[in-house]
Amino acid sequence: MRPLKIGKLTASVPLIQGGMGVGVSLSGLSSAVANAGGVGIISTAQIGFREPDFDEHPLEANLRAIGTEIDRAKKAAPGGIIGCNIMVATRNYGEYVKAAVKAGADLIISGAGLPIRLPELTAGSETLIAPIVSSVKAASVLCRMWDRKYRKAPDLVVVEGPKAGGHLGFTEDEAENLTQEAYDEEIRRIIAEVKTYADKYQQDIPVVTAGGIYGREDVKHSFLLGADGVQVATRFVTTWECDAPMSYKQAYLDAGQEDIVIVKSPVGMPGRAIRNKFIKDREKGGRLPAVKCHQCIEHCRPAEIPYCITDALIHAVTDRTDEALLFCGANAWRSDRIESVEDVVNSLFC
Ligand SMILES: Cc1cc2nc3c(=O)[nH]c(=O)nc-3n(C[C@H](O)[C@H](O)[C@H](O)COP(=O)(O)O)c2cc1C
Repeated sequence: MRPLKIGKLTASVPLIQGGMGVGVSLSGLSSAVANAGGVGIISTAQIGFREPDFDEHPLEANLRAIGTEIDRAKKAAPGGIIGCNIMVATRNYGEYVKAAVKAGADLIISGAGLPIRLPELTAGSETLIAPIVSSVKAASVLCRMWDRKYRKAPDLVVVEGPKAGGHLGFTEDEAENLTQEAYDEEIRRIIAEVKTYADKYQQDIPVVTAGGIYGREDVKHSFLLGADGVQVATRFVTTWECDAPMSYKQAYLDAGQEDIVIVKSPVGMPGRAIRNKFIKDREKGGRLPAVKCHQCIEHCRPAEIPYCITDALIHAVTDRTDEALLFCGANAWRSDRIESVEDVVNSLFC
């Protein structure tokens, strides 16, 4: 096991904790992972949901909470690496990136779209930048655009496969049916593509794999494919330190393999979640009109969506599990107990 070097940063454990919104990876989980030697990632998705003015001024509340959470995480993990996951689809994406840079995020990881403008939004700062890609095509387009437009290569590339949780960069059919062998080949091709830019810029560009990494054998497999590290999310939900409430963690503990399904989220992308009462009700066609728009993503049509994704995700972290969208990765059913972050890290790497 080699440390993960990302630009000037070195994580002694080659682990990135995947960003999980809304409210699942905040300062608590991210600082625990950073203290364990990995990279802790705060999700900025509706991060200000607990702020008193969230309903009236969601953007201001979210930008303020980015500062508060980064500050808390950095204080709780002195010398540790703390970054942010900011989805490209976020409305006012640029303002979120600037707030994270201002608050001293070491790294920004962006998926749910290609973060074409990320280099200009972080220019002149120390914050490192990384796209999340799911195909060699996306990796190639992104690297080519940054190269042409900014003369810049990514500091890190996250390759997120079909077993991941939350929104997926795949069609429903691909997410259900892509074989491990087929996706392994895609990972090798992405690593080769990124290497051409590493050579061109004479810099290391580590590639980490994500999606379904749950045990030591999965980590080993990623290294054998040529990855420099792994990004893990689902496994960290059932830790004491995870910022979600116990009701969220209990839903993971209770879920069987048959309860984990692909859903079409109102965002228009497929996502993976636990088939709870909320999902069963939606399958019957029940539409839940959005009471108030929380300005979460670009291109949402509140009058047409089956439910408001912000409300459904906030319910998940406020003990309203039956009314919640409970995002999870394909391996969430494997959880059988609450563990400490340190135990998870040891079980993955020692
Ligand atoms: C509960 C949950 C919430 C997530 N939220 C986000 C998010 O806000 N932004 C994002 O880019 N990825 C999100 N993801 C994806 C993770 O960051 C990660 O890349 C992926 O789930 C890795 O697979 P694993 O969960 O099997 O380890 C989420 C995943 C889960 C399980």
